Amino acid sequence: MPPHNEPAAAVICGIGAALPTRVVSNAELCTHLDTTDEWIRSRTGIAQRHIAGHNSSTEDLAVQAAAQALARSAPRPVQALVLATTTPDRCCPATATTVASQLGLTGIPALDLAAGCTGFLYGLATAVGFIAARAADSVLVIGAERLSTLPARGDRTTVPLFADGAGAVVLRRGQAWEDGAVGPVVLGSDGTYAELIRTARPGALQMQGAEVFRHAVDRMSAASAQAVAAAGWRMEDVDRLVPHQANARITSLVARQLAVPDDRQLQNIDSVGNTGAASIPLLLTQAAADGRLKAGHRVVLTAFGAGLTWGATTINWPDLTLTPRPREFQ
Ligand code: UT7
Repeated sequence: MPPHNEPAAAVICGIGAALPTRVVSNAELCTHLDTTDEWIRSRTGIAQRHIAGHNSSTEDLAVQAAAQALARSAPRPVQALVLATTTPDRCCPATATTVASQLGLTGIPALDLAAGCTGFLYGLATAVGFIAARAADSVLVIGAERLSTLPARGDRTTVPLFADGAGAVVLRRGQAWEDGAVGPVVLGSDGTYAELIRTARPGALQMQGAEVFRHAVDRMSAASAQAVAAAGWRMEDVDRLVPHQANARITSLVARQLAVPDDRQLQNIDSVGNTGAASIPLLLTQAAADGRLKAGHRVVLTAFGAGLTWGATTINWPDLTLTPRPREFQ
């Protein structure tokens, strides 16, 4: 353990992801939903999504992504686990506790974190806090979702959007100047807009899409600008913008508002849809594996979701081990 006055940063040292094997194309959706492939592609950017089977759980996806992140990080004992999810497998106990046990991490602190699609960024801030509080030297942050369970059957305004998946990162105690250190984290919420995305249970989601769209663009743009300033960067220094994959039109508008050129914006919504808290770590894993994200890139992460919640942070991308690769990305 470092002396008390030594600033402790959380440094990414492993990353992984998992997607259900079943792919549902827009064409397949059109067989039971009043919509068209053209509408979904042009209004959202989504061409297909991965959907988990009825026997699969958020825990299954979380364990798969986390196991890969752990296998890719240098062997070290993980001392805390944060699971960001909007779709825990039950109200009580937290899904994180059984995810930890499944991973052989019985005994460590483990908690679920509910912050909508911003959950992964809240999770990073929580990991920074665990390390600063000297509660842990290494933290596993997972975003895992079965968002496809939330829309009402036949609701064409939400069914095409929401999908399943998981992503995970391992963070270790380190120094703020190291590649992989999580920069200042900007977070916010505004419950006066709680009605904009709401559900009491699976299968009853209500969303005021157009209103959410406007907030998503404004909040992600503002949070990104604040995070870049807090890190002491200029916007033109940003090599990669990694926005929560809510809608390709939303993320393009955010990039335009921030004057980040299109080729610096990472996207995978076309193949995975909106996977909520899993969205950012899933995109990071995929982009690191296919070369769109390289060591040394200055990266901005930003997200927005139900609550409303929003956030952003910065990372100098580290040189990570990327084997073994997830089956889908090989
Ligand atoms: O992760 C964070 C949470 N969620 C989001 O960030 C979602 C943010 N919002 C959005 O992505 C977009 O608002 C949607 C994709 C949900 C909707 O796109 P839009 O361009 O805002 O459409 P709209 O809701 O204004 O609807 C336009 C029209 C309507 O028809 P009328 O009233 O103009 O005749 C809808 O009924 O599009 C119709 N529509 C559809 N048509 C065919 C809505 N969904 C569909 C559909 N297929 N799937």
